Amino acid sequence: MKLFLDTAIYEEVEQGVSWGVVDGVTTNPTLIAKAGMDHEEQVKRICQIVGNVSAEVVSEKRDDMIVEGRRIATWHKNVIVKVPLTSDGLGAGKVLAGEGTRINVTLCFSVNQALLAAAIGAYIVSPFAGRLDDINEDGMRVVADIVAAYRQQEIKTKVLAASIRNPMHVTQAALAGADIATMPFGVLKMLFEHPLTTAGQKKFLEDYRQARAASGSKADGGARAQPDERSEYRKMQEAKPVPSTAAEAATKR
Ligand code: E4P
Repeated sequence: MKLFLDTAIYEEVEQGVSWGVVDGVTTNPTLIAKAGMDHEEQVKRICQIVGNVSAEVVSEKRDDMIVEGRRIATWHKNVIVKVPLTSDGLGAGKVLAGEGTRINVTLCFSVNQALLAAAIGAYIVSPFAGRLDDINEDGMRVVADIVAAYRQQEIKTKVLAASIRNPMHVTQAALAGADIATMPFGVLKMLFEHPLTTAGQKKFLEDYRQARAASGSKADGGARAQPDERSEYRKMQEAKPVPSTAAEAATKR
């Protein structure tokens, strides 16, 4: 399962990409508004550092969405045009997909809606798990059912678990077989965290520094490695005189 960031904040994308774990970004009009940047400028900036950047149309009518979607598609080759799961959105998505544009159908809340997204040739469908949980439905169950239906029907549209609110959602999305999970930066950071990792790393470094201090060498993390760092076995081996002949070598054994 690929990990995407659900943000329009460049610095968050930059950080996630530097960690080597982020394969894409999803934006929506709310996230663009929160970032407080020009839509086109911000999407183009993000596309410079990561592939698979979803950018959503904000028109309401099919024909307007087609025009807008075509314009968004020219911003960058990494752009995926996002359309809502409405009849206008799907109508526009069908035309855009037919022209070779990658389409992400967003605001999906059921298996039947996901089948409609597949029918127009969407590259991605985005079921919103968190928003279903918010209304007392099981969002991850819907994600799992869409994955199962797509497998059964041999549908190639990728399932992107969206509206993720916590690390458990990420685990559940992976177990459900989602192709992608998109998450806020805060959730991505939490994926790294485990108390045993923190404690284990602290102890490793303490032990190493103590051993170095005891042997009188500098505990500098190896940045200025000294010859003394050879293992004891290696030091003994290297201290032995080199035998000059095979016979000498045999007598020394
Ligand atoms: C991503 O494509 C969606 O727009 C996003 O995950 C929605 O998340 P929210 O329900 O937390 O707003």
